[in-house]
Amino acid sequence: MSKTATLEFDGKKYEFPVTVGTEDEIGIDIKKLRGEAGLITLDPGFKNTGSCESAITFLDGEKGILRYRGYAIEDLAEKADFLEVVYLLIFGELPNKEQLEKFNKDIKEQSHVDEEMKKILDGFPKSAHPMGVLSSLTSALIAFNPSSVDVSSEEDMYKAIVKILGKFPVLAAWTLRKKNSLPLNYGDEDLGYVENLHKMMFEKPNKAYSVDKAVIDALDKLLILHADHEQNCSTSTVRMVGSSHAGLFASLSAGISALWGPLHGGANQAVIEMLEKIKEDGGDTHKFMQKAKDKEDPFRLMGFGHRVYKNFDPRAKIIKKSADEVLAQLGVDDPVLDIAKGLEKEALEDDYFVKRKLYPNVDFYSGIIYRALGIPVEMFTVMFALGRLPGWIAQWREMRLKKEPIGRPRQIYVGENHREYKPLGNR
Ligand code: CMC
Repeated sequence: MSKTATLEFDGKKYEFPVTVGTEDEIGIDIKKLRGEAGLITLDPGFKNTGSCESAITFLDGEKGILRYRGYAIEDLAEKADFLEVVYLLIFGELPNKEQLEKFNKDIKEQSHVDEEMKKILDGFPKSAHPMGVLSSLTSALIAFNPSSVDVSSEEDMYKAIVKILGKFPVLAAWTLRKKNSLPLNYGDEDLGYVENLHKMMFEKPNKAYSVDKAVIDALDKLLILHADHEQNCSTSTVRMVGSSHAGLFASLSAGISALWGPLHGGANQAVIEMLEKIKEDGGDTHKFMQKAKDKEDPFRLMGFGHRVYKNFDPRAKIIKKSADEVLAQLGVDDPVLDIAKGLEKEALEDDYFVKRKLYPNVDFYSGIIYRALGIPVEMFTVMFALGRLPGWIAQWREMRLKKEPIGRPRQIYVGENHREYKPLGNR
């Protein structure tokens, strides 16, 4: 017998069906709640609201589990490369050799950006934050690719996907090159997806390009760890914007803006800035722990806490280990790594953090690796966006294929009741 949930209100009982996921998560299906009982649910921040059924990413915040399409994040980070994970997230299965080669080739064929886009980039001041520039350029891509995707055609959908996977790294690299006053360039067909990205970002016009394999491996792993995280703020934004049938590029541009905020992807930049501040202040981690706990002080320990993880963020565990390895391999000695470890140790033993189940999240150590790889602080969230791109695409595709209705939450109005209009002279 299928399960139901009963709601009692004003002496009347209402039955609602219950949906059980493949990992036994349970959701009460309240689609008929307003129609039958005249009620809505109120859940600011959607802390207890499931916005969709999804087959892409599973996470269990209590147990610290994260899986893409059923594969453990630990396995993927260790054994897969980023492009395989991109394919897996979007199409649901790991690609075989032929599928991966074709995917790579199709992406490369689309990795040219219209030269006119350079004029748009030129219009930004050098001081512009790369995330704002990236969001604008992604949106501008629509003007150069105006035909909308026929989502009922797999071929059309595939073309749009390889197009954005080809062009997005170029745009991301250009945001950095503009900041660094370097000539705008294009990729190299012969390189893998991640090395190509790195080359586009760092190639100098007067020097042959070369890179340490450890750098590419570390970057590849970081991109995998950021590739999807189910219905987070930016992904929900992408799905919401896409639900109005705005195109893929418009939906992604909105997702980039959502990711920029310091409570979301912007936290990786905020963490390094915080660690630097602690260092400059003399390195007293205890002082900053007290500030983080003081409700009168707006300071928060950036890189700590998570809406869903109430246990260690499994990505943070992998990244912490990776930070130690990468810094050793590259011979980098970054004093903020010790400050970060000191903060983590204190927080894990502190009542305030223990009680609230606040653990280091994915952003706590990622900035330290990005910095060791020579990536400037303002580009950290762009690196997150490059990683999250396949997740956004997969979620947008899933939402469109399932023909989900337009996203349109309700509200409880708490403003003025009806009042008479007063002419200007009487106010
Ligand atoms: N430092 C100090 N106190 C904190 C922190 C923190 N980093 N995070 C949460 N708290 C406290 C908060 O003050 C509240 O205390 P109380 O119950 O006494 O009012 C309690 O913990 C619950 O916090 P919340 O803000 O209600 O939790 P949330 O689920 O709404 O927020 C969060 C989650 C990630 C926005 C929050 O933990 C935070 O602001 N962390 C710092 C920013 C950060 O690192 N963000 C990256 C998230 S992971 C990457 C990503 O998804 O993009």
